[in-house]
Amino acid sequence: MDFLLNAWYFAAWSADIKQGTPFTRTLLNRPLVFIRPENGALVAFDDRCPHRASPLSMGRLEGGRIVCGYHGLEFDFTGACVRNPHPSGRIPPGARLRSYPIVERHSGVWIWFGERAADPSLIPDFSRLDDTGTSVTRRDYIVMDASYELIVDNLLDCSHTSFLHDGILGNEPMIAAPTEITQSGNTINVIRYARKVPPPGMFDMLFRQDGAPVDCWTDFRWDPPSCLLLDVGVTAPGRPKQEGTGLFGTHILTPETARTTHYHFAATLWNIHAKSQTAEMREKISDLRRFAFEKQDQPMIVAQQRIIDMTPPNQLERVMLETDLGVVRWRRIMEKLIAAERHPPDRIGAEA
Ligand code: FES
Ligand SMILES: [Fe+2]
Repeated sequence: MDFLLNAWYFAAWSADIKQGTPFTRTLLNRPLVFIRPENGALVAFDDRCPHRASPLSMGRLEGGRIVCGYHGLEFDFTGACVRNPHPSGRIPPGARLRSYPIVERHSGVWIWFGERAADPSLIPDFSRLDDTGTSVTRRDYIVMDASYELIVDNLLDCSHTSFLHDGILGNEPMIAAPTEITQSGNTINVIRYARKVPPPGMFDMLFRQDGAPVDCWTDFRWDPPSCLLLDVGVTAPGRPKQEGTGLFGTHILTPETARTTHYHFAATLWNIHAKSQTAEMREKISDLRRFAFEKQDQPMIVAQQRIIDMTPPNQLERVMLETDLGVVRWRRIMEKLIAAERHPPDRIGAEA
């Protein structure tokens, strides 16, 4: 699988990387080590010693350096080798760790792998996560044994909520909602608006808690490569959105490998039922969403991946439904971006 490199990827929730302990995570098939120094900004390196490729994360942090646990080379936090403990003391040329641009924003750590300049203004807006108060649910995380592509497909075709999450996040009458799409630059929004339907269980809990019909919308924003923000909510039939209630769901995916994906999620609640404004309810919503993604989406997507992997490509049907507008569009945008990265315009010209 070709990954898009000139893009910001979400490496981890900031709070999960502690001072004094190297934090490891593989992203896009690259084993990385993250170090949060006592003074100074977070740094990320290839987790591979230039001597024998052992993981530096198995070494130790000591006085602003990381010491390889195998033969003791020491590196500072710019990645330079600053000490060879062996008799010559000579620092071999090329003894250097590759580091990556990092930005901490919206409760997360963003990393850039491409050759082009890493422009922080290109980080998608997830400022809904900036609230440190009670409106944001648990900043949660699972690893799924499936390609990130299948998970983006899952999210951008919300019609699955009527089946896979029936009763919690969707229900059968909501299938009638048409699917629409808008695009601005490389950002797309996939929008559905179900009118006068029974309230999905979780939203009834957040809204009036009376089971009465609602209008329910989902508006999923996708930014390359796999950053999604869902605006979802309910309101009384025919009434404006702002009279209702809902949440902004963060769904940020980062490939670990071609077949495994880091899935970060959280929700920012707004205008919820007075009775629901408790820490217990926030935990309950956190648990309910995790249940939906981990116990309902995940088994389906992992099984789907297994079947795709066992099927010869020429036998993979690609039947499309009208709900697939977003699925088709995001994949097309990514194909273009990845192709442009592999064959930049000047090279295409040179080859032609
Ligand atoms: S592998 Fe790191 S010093 Fe030998
Ligand atoms: Fe789902």
